[in-house]
Amino acid sequence: MNNSTSKNNFLWGSATASFQVEGGIDTCDWAQAGREGKVPVCGLACDHYNRFKQDFDIAKELGHNAHRFSIEWARIEPQEGVFDESAMAHYRAVLEALRERDLEPIVTLWHWTLPTWLSESGGIERKDFPQIFARYCSYVATGIKGLASHIVTLNEPYTVITHGWLHGDFPPFKRFPPMSYFLRERDHHIKKPSGMTDSWLGIVQYFTLANRLAEAHIQAYNAVKQVNQEYSVGLVFQVHVFRGASPLSRLIARFLQWHLTHRFLRRALKRCDILGINYYHYTTLGENKKYRKTDMGWDIRPEGIYDALMEVKRYKLPIMIDEAGCADAKDAFREEYIAKSVEGVLRARADGVDVRGFIYWSLMDNYEWANGFDMRFGLVEIDFDTQKRTIRPSAFAYRKIIEANSPTIHS
Ligand code: BGC
Repeated sequence: MNNSTSKNNFLWGSATASFQVEGGIDTCDWAQAGREGKVPVCGLACDHYNRFKQDFDIAKELGHNAHRFSIEWARIEPQEGVFDESAMAHYRAVLEALRERDLEPIVTLWHWTLPTWLSESGGIERKDFPQIFARYCSYVATGIKGLASHIVTLNEPYTVITHGWLHGDFPPFKRFPPMSYFLRERDHHIKKPSGMTDSWLGIVQYFTLANRLAEAHIQAYNAVKQVNQEYSVGLVFQVHVFRGASPLSRLIARFLQWHLTHRFLRRALKRCDILGINYYHYTTLGENKKYRKTDMGWDIRPEGIYDALMEVKRYKLPIMIDEAGCADAKDAFREEYIAKSVEGVLRARADGVDVRGFIYWSLMDNYEWANGFDMRFGLVEIDFDTQKRTIRPSAFAYRKIIEANSPTIHS
């Protein structure tokens, strides 16, 4: 670790992802989909590409000592095999700005968007995707050497393939037809994109692609370590917790938990120094209870983060909570959400899970993928017309939680 905040401190912070905040990214699949009217146009987003210093000042003011962000592949490798040194220089400046503020960087190499040369030639359906990804990762790992130590290869591999090949609301918009029945309730606010194609093959591709992404992680891990053994390299996985209210539903829940969590992790974690967990969803099958909902329509069950952590305890790895958060435009329940999440994390630590940090999603309101700009996850409110930043009260409450709860890490 090369940063004074990092060695023995629990990491507290928030996250962003390049396409969701930077603005001005025209050469990736999501930008293309926006131009084709399949998803909302992202445009300038939060103009974070130009305002990152101001935004990091806010994170600092809010008591954070870490920040997770992602590097935009389409900027770094705008054409196949051609790397843009000026884009690399930008991310070096971002890292320097974080270090000047004692914010430990957590660098995600791929947070869902693909350069158009790649998406148009098959994207992750390409058999050589793992090699192509590893080559890009190696370039970035070399470019940021000395400025960061904590690297994430993939963000939520299952979300990419579930939305891209089963739900059909993310590129490449392939929908496995029966899914619309199951998703009617939960994702009611997402309109069917105009370019969606029904594909019964989706389910076959789903498994092939899951395996390919596990392989992409492993090859990226090796490539990054080859640049510098000292890098701590991990992947970020969303754990959707499944439980059951009756013996039969408990059995089904166990199958789903295995299928949607452990099948992938057992494969991918052959190479991993630290596992990143994102937590948003908890489903108790066969339960009648109605939960309050976030603006996304998701059940408010932040304390369930404890069970998510207990699920991954078996891998005996250090864990980061790399995302947990809620869409709450009125800032009505965010403070409680964060407090209960942190409580769950600390309880899991007390029960033997080696959690090293908590990163809230997100530092600021941003482009919430197929939902556009209406879903507001930010500690900081963004006025997308003026780019004005306003810190929400829950952000100050999070600062107090940080001050009161910081555990010491013994590693
Ligand atoms: C993703 C973020 C997204 C958040 C809220 C996570 O799955 O990593 O990019 O904005 O969930 O939907």
